[in-house]
Amino acid sequence: MAEIVIVENKEQAGALVADAITALVQRRPDTVLGFATGSTPLPVYQALRERFADIDVSQVRGFALDEYVGIDPDHPESYRSVITREVVEPLGLNPELVRVPNGDPETAATAGDDYEAAIDEAGGIDLQILGIGTDGHIGFNEPGSSLSSQTRVKTLTEQTREDNARFFDSIDDVPRHCITQGIGTILEARHLVLLAFGEGKAEAIAAAVEGPLTSFVPGSAIQLHPRVTVVVDEAAASKLKLADYYRYSYENKPAWQSL
Ligand code: F6R
Repeated sequence: MAEIVIVENKEQAGALVADAITALVQRRPDTVLGFATGSTPLPVYQALRERFADIDVSQVRGFALDEYVGIDPDHPESYRSVITREVVEPLGLNPELVRVPNGDPETAATAGDDYEAAIDEAGGIDLQILGIGTDGHIGFNEPGSSLSSQTRVKTLTEQTREDNARFFDSIDDVPRHCITQGIGTILEARHLVLLAFGEGKAEAIAAAVEGPLTSFVPGSAIQLHPRVTVVVDEAAASKLKLADYYRYSYENKPAWQSL
């Protein structure tokens, strides 16, 4: 099962995950990282700034989880812009080594296959950072997405558009389509790190971690993966039935087990 780490706050979560990523990059300088966007991973990217300033990250490669279809890549809320602003520039990564799915509607039919080929060529993703939607999505794999899906175009649910409207002037500006790594793609990464904060994520986390495996909760697909770390604050953990056991396991974790 996934390792569930219940932390006090986002900063602690960011530090914990950033330490694991830094150790990985030190072991393997050309590590391939999978980057989520949205609010959740920001404490990780923040914590990586000082850590990456002290090590050689020139060979680190990266793949974003998803992108809106039909958004101008220069729009400040395109995931291309977000990844450049929050990840590539502050962490000092080589922009040529960090890819974001191509959201151009003209090439959307083939962009998924191209993205899969690029991930394969890089040797696969070593560590994939994930957030989770209030409807249980991971990447932009909305409820009902095939558990073996690959990178492709999806239609966003109205729930997700409403959740993401905070990044735009109005909900009418939130694109209706996206291109996202599939659940199958995500499951191919060697280590999944799923983060969630706040009460609004409590139900989705409980369903993903302790509910039945179902395409109707895409996050439940993490139950199929042999190496998953779920990092949540108390509020996001509040609906977990076995929270005490997760706390006990983490407190008694042998020193030789890393995150
Ligand atoms: C982002 C992504 C989404 C978000 C999810 C949560 O690349 O793929 O799955 O992780 O929508 O978003 P936030 O973190 O903004 O609550």
